[in-house]
Amino acid sequence: MTTPFHYDEAFSRNIGWITETEQQLLRTRRVAIAGLGGVGGSHLLTLTRLGIGRFHIADLDAFELANFNRQAGAFLSHLGRPKVEALEQLAREINPELEIRTFPQGVTRENLGHFLDGVDLYVDGLDFFALDIRRAVFAACAEKGIPAVTAAPLGMGVALLNFLPSGMTFEEYFRLEGQPEDEQLLRFLLGLSPAMLQMPYLVDDSRVDLEAHKGPSTPMACELCAGVAATQALKILLRRGKVIAAPRGLHFDAYRNRLKITWRPGGNRNPLQRLGLKIARGRLSEKKGKKPVPERPAPDTPIERILDLARWAPSGDNTQPWKFEVLDERRFLVHAHDTRDWCVYDLDGHASQIAVGALLETIAIAATGEGMEADFRLLPDCPETAPVIEVSLKEKAGVVESPLLPYIRVRTTQRRPFETTPLSPAQKQALEAAVGEGFGVRWIESPRARWQMAKLLFRSAKIRLTIPEAYEVHKRIIEWDAQFSTDRIPDQAVGLDPATLKLMKWVMQSWKRVRFMNRWLAGTLAPRLQLDLVPGYRCAAHFLILAHRPPETLEEWFAAGRALQRFWLTATRLGLQLQPEMTPLIFSRYTKESVNFTSESKALGLARAVTNALEGMVGREGVHQGVFLGRVGVGRLPAARSLRRAVRRLQVS
Ligand SMILES: Cc1cc2nc3c(=O)[nH]c(=O)nc-3n(C[C@H](O)[C@H](O)[C@H](O)COP(=O)(O)O)c2cc1C
Repeated sequence: MTTPFHYDEAFSRNIGWITETEQQLLRTRRVAIAGLGGVGGSHLLTLTRLGIGRFHIADLDAFELANFNRQAGAFLSHLGRPKVEALEQLAREINPELEIRTFPQGVTRENLGHFLDGVDLYVDGLDFFALDIRRAVFAACAEKGIPAVTAAPLGMGVALLNFLPSGMTFEEYFRLEGQPEDEQLLRFLLGLSPAMLQMPYLVDDSRVDLEAHKGPSTPMACELCAGVAATQALKILLRRGKVIAAPRGLHFDAYRNRLKITWRPGGNRNPLQRLGLKIARGRLSEKKGKKPVPERPAPDTPIERILDLARWAPSGDNTQPWKFEVLDERRFLVHAHDTRDWCVYDLDGHASQIAVGALLETIAIAATGEGMEADFRLLPDCPETAPVIEVSLKEKAGVVESPLLPYIRVRTTQRRPFETTPLSPAQKQALEAAVGEGFGVRWIESPRARWQMAKLLFRSAKIRLTIPEAYEVHKRIIEWDAQFSTDRIPDQAVGLDPATLKLMKWVMQSWKRVRFMNRWLAGTLAPRLQLDLVPGYRCAAHFLILAHRPPETLEEWFAAGRALQRFWLTATRLGLQLQPEMTPLIFSRYTKESVNFTSESKALGLARAVTNALEGMVGREGVHQGVFLGRVGVGRLPAARSLRRAVRRLQVS
């Protein structure tokens, strides 16, 4: 069969922006691309569509799964296949007449001469961290008079630098010679993007790991790079006039809607760059103390997958009061415990029991993803403080995957203010249905009622912040200077602004400081405003989950936890944020049951007042039947959150 390909027709739609003559000229041009990963693969395909007729492509890697978020040639059918081979084929699918020379060993000092032989333009696609060979390639380009383009994907934008034969060289600009690796990487990064437009929206800096040569990336940035680099290629190859070249650079950030043309005469020797480097070095040494994120092996049996999801169940203060013991392929034990021995919010164990219930519900939902049903049996003769639940999984025809399954990993606690847009009748109905039989929902939603609740929370918070018993808990469960925490709550997820957080960190180093602040400097005011009063009003509604028959047994408390988890996951599915507000309910229960939860008599009095106020709002029955109190509303996902211990750390053998 003859190929239906005709160069002129295939690229005819370029004509208009370029002339027919220019198109024919591009057909004769030879472009070298080193690296066919995030940007290199897109460069090759974009330049091929531009009609460039000859390429030298180099890469020594094969495709792997971690390439899928951004690399043009990353497809399931290419897994394990050399990148040069896969991309050569993709490019030939666009233009079968291409003349392509491949360098499957990547560019090396040995083949550099060959790689750049007869080349009109070099487009850089090398890995960010491959600095040695990059320096060699750019030096060789300068020597041979080959223009070189580098377009770096940064965040959701592109930073462009061109090095032209008549201008500043790569080495003159970046000044990497003789520097240690970390310093070279910093100089390269800051040289590429003096404006650093991407930094304000880096939401998880633990993923930048210079030591392991890993950094986060986006597909959008790679596509932007290909567009920008090919435009430079067009201008340079067709001599369309001036292009920006080092020491000038261009940085476009699509996320921030910003474009900057930077000018750094002297490159990294420029005083502005030197200042930027100093700041960056400080940040890097701070970061070096932090642990990098370990790689997680993918779970590969049904039980492993179920446990991997189940551990995302919520628990008070992220205590995760459970361990798992796998018995066989279809059975495991949940060894639970409560935290009454150290946690003032859990003196009767009910907070932990609710969390265990949430865990069981999560297991049940996760099991549906495996086509299974989970059965639970509380083992007899376990102490109430350390119940053991046997979980049996059964494959069953007709098990339908729960619509809540995709939300297990999305659900989280948001402690910052929400929008005040009311819940729609459909949203309320879905949430009421979610708690299931035996439970109901009471809404506290009018602006007046929310304001009343905000004031109640404000009062209740005073108890939390002035009793030594709670101080001990908070000291134990807050991880300071953290955006994420696997076994506690990171301070940045608590809901305070950075200045108040700093003060709190200092104050909380000793009970003496806390007392002093509280007594003389109204120390509870700022946190109570930010954590209770404002968010207490700024939400769609507060909710109280009621048990028609107040729970008494462990199993009844587990059932309450299961209802809560269905409610929370449903809220997540509806795009709502949620925060539990359990302390008023807990203090009311203590008051009703005459539990002396603190040595501070003033706080006991305050708890009585909070109980009365809560009864005033939801009635005596409401307090008696209430198992969970919280607020919901439309809001952003939090940037900081509690994570979980790894399954292997939660497992007993
Ligand atoms: C029984 C229970 C009580 C909780 N009480 C509160 C609370 O009073 N205030 C709060 O902000 N979060 C509360 N939480 C939320 C937990 O702190 C949170 O679920 C945990 O830190 C895990 O974080 P994540 O929900 O973001 O995954 C509670 C959670 C549970 C299960």
